[in-house]
Amino acid sequence: MNLTFDHVHKHFGDLPVVDGFTSEIKTGELVALVGPSGCGKSTLLHLAAGLEKPTEGSVQADGRAITGPHPSRTLVFQEHALYPWLTLEDNVALALEFQNTPKKRAREAARDWLARVSLAGFEHYYPHQVSGGMRQRAALARAFVAQPQTMLMDEPFGALDALTRLSLQDVLRQLIAQEKPTVLLVTHDVDEALFLADRIVVFSPRPARVLREFNLAHRAKTHDLSGLAAEKREILRLLGIAVDGSHADADSDSDLALAA
Ligand SMILES: Nc1ncnc2c1ncn2[C@@H]1O[C@H](COP(=O)(O)OP(=O)(O)OP(=O)(O)O)[C@@H](O)[C@H]1O
Ligand SMILES: [Mg+2]
Repeated sequence: MNLTFDHVHKHFGDLPVVDGFTSEIKTGELVALVGPSGCGKSTLLHLAAGLEKPTEGSVQADGRAITGPHPSRTLVFQEHALYPWLTLEDNVALALEFQNTPKKRAREAARDWLARVSLAGFEHYYPHQVSGGMRQRAALARAFVAQPQTMLMDEPFGALDALTRLSLQDVLRQLIAQEKPTVLLVTHDVDEALFLADRIVVFSPRPARVLREFNLAHRAKTHDLSGLAAEKREILRLLGIAVDGSHADADSDSDLALAA
């Protein structure tokens, strides 16, 4: 599914939040949105989800204006992704049952998908009985089970520790390679964007305006980001994080500095 933002402006009352965003996200492309807290990134996802309407301009899916939520476009959040009173299997199956898939088929698909995210054997556990990383694996299974054409991911791994986050990035990358959805990914983690994205859009503080785009489509996807050191420096510089050693926080972790 092609997603098009065409001169999109968004105001909440008098508050300008998005200042003229134009971008075409092609079928199967993963575009990461990076920018300071509060700049308008989640708002852009909500516009693509059809939960908000642009004040000016339009957001289109395959050339048709988005007028409301649709199951072909799934939102994935960092938490509250699973119903605590349902087992992992029921949580995943529910995404299909919402679309009127017969219960038996939904359960089979749920078991398959839980296996694909390495959760075979945990189908009958409740979310509170598994680790945070396992919960987020199940949340990915639930997001993918209905095979949406577009995934709108808002800090999906924000609540995880650094190591678990890396392994979840691997799981996500593998699922994307197999399923080829179009993905808009909001992340505070510059390394995560560099690892996963075909393209990174860096935004200014609110109202969100594009500062720069980085095209990374043709590089090998590896956690060794040494080949992208120049891009990383430039992104951090655009985000106002000192990278030249002249600032007291120059060595601080990028996501910590961004969260401030
Ligand atoms: N429904 C709403 N009504 C009024 N203001 C809103 C609404 N949604 C967002 N905003 C405002 O829009 C601005 C951008 O919010 P948004 O959630 O898009 O930022 P963000 O870039 O996702 O930030 P963060 O990185 O902290 O999640 C904020 O000032 C916020 O208060
Ligand atoms: Mg947000």
